[in-house]
Amino acid sequence: MSELTIRQPDDWHLHLRDGTMLESVVGFSARQCGRAIIMPNLVPPVTSVTEARAYRDRILAALGPDSGFTPLMTLYLTDRTTATEIEQAAAEPHIHAVKLYPAGATTNSENGVTDPLAIEPVLGALERTGLPLLVHGEVVDPTVDIFDREAVFIERVLAPMLERHPDLRVVMEHITTAQAVAFVRSQGERLGATITAHHLMFNRNAMLAGGIRPHYYCLPILKREKHREALLEAAIDPSGRFFMGTDSAPHPKGAKESACGCAGAFTAPVAVELYAQVFDQLGALDRLEAFTSLNGPRFYGLPVNERRLKLERRPQVVPEPITAGNDHVVPFLSGESIDWTASLLDE
Ligand code: NCD
Ligand code: ZN
Repeated sequence: MSELTIRQPDDWHLHLRDGTMLESVVGFSARQCGRAIIMPNLVPPVTSVTEARAYRDRILAALGPDSGFTPLMTLYLTDRTTATEIEQAAAEPHIHAVKLYPAGATTNSENGVTDPLAIEPVLGALERTGLPLLVHGEVVDPTVDIFDREAVFIERVLAPMLERHPDLRVVMEHITTAQAVAFVRSQGERLGATITAHHLMFNRNAMLAGGIRPHYYCLPILKREKHREALLEAAIDPSGRFFMGTDSAPHPKGAKESACGCAGAFTAPVAVELYAQVFDQLGALDRLEAFTSLNGPRFYGLPVNERRLKLERRPQVVPEPITAGNDHVVPFLSGESIDWTASLLDE
């Protein structure tokens, strides 16, 4: 297959940031995706319905008219989030989920939840309203090795949480391990998972062998090859429970290429092409559309997109660093050649 046309994808996990960064990056997602679940880890975080509405307005302003792109907003849970706020969020049509960051787990998670098993009233409200809980599934216990933090989170936090709340709907975000794949498969329809392109493409050698490559540093951290293999199987699995979430996370060049570089890979400029390359290498291009465009809407109870995206097997070079105010942002794989080129078809 050297060309295929699929329903327009959605990105079920995206960081757009704010201000000049937002203005510089949002167009890359809008060029490919119909909708995206917008992560709330701004500084300060988006913790109320009012803030989520205002952030949505800033995203729409940055997009300009007729972008055709719909931001699906989320709230950031803190130790102070109340059940009433969850109920208000569930009643707000532009809010589609709430995000649980264990405090200290990742970029801008300082205000997250200290003990995810101690937010029972919030979890109860989520259960009652059906609003999904999106989970950054890593423990922050410093005695747990960074490569084990996802697997330990499943054991210590996620499994007991799901047991206590049989109607809670959860997305395990950016899964990276065989344990996460097995856990999602062991549960019913109420648990889904997003997978990034970079975790499907690379194991931790890409980040560490032959030199330390900060653009491959993201959280959860890249794992060993057997985990990548489990993710590949999950992405093409017919269960419909695994879907595209790029976790595209732009940072200024200097903040990544630093003695203490921050976590996040900016994949949005070529996100769908990277997934196409992975599915192509697996001989599974016929499964791509379900992963990018059908499974996510089904989980979120939304219609699939009407527009179509064309993918051609035509090499392209991943764009050069982009400017954002006085900064530059380096796209993941910038300057390297990839196999596919995507173009959105007119309505
Ligand atoms: C994300 C960011 O930069 O906001 N970074 C990352 O490595 N994925 C936060 C996150 O999703 O963990
Ligand atoms: Zn993220």
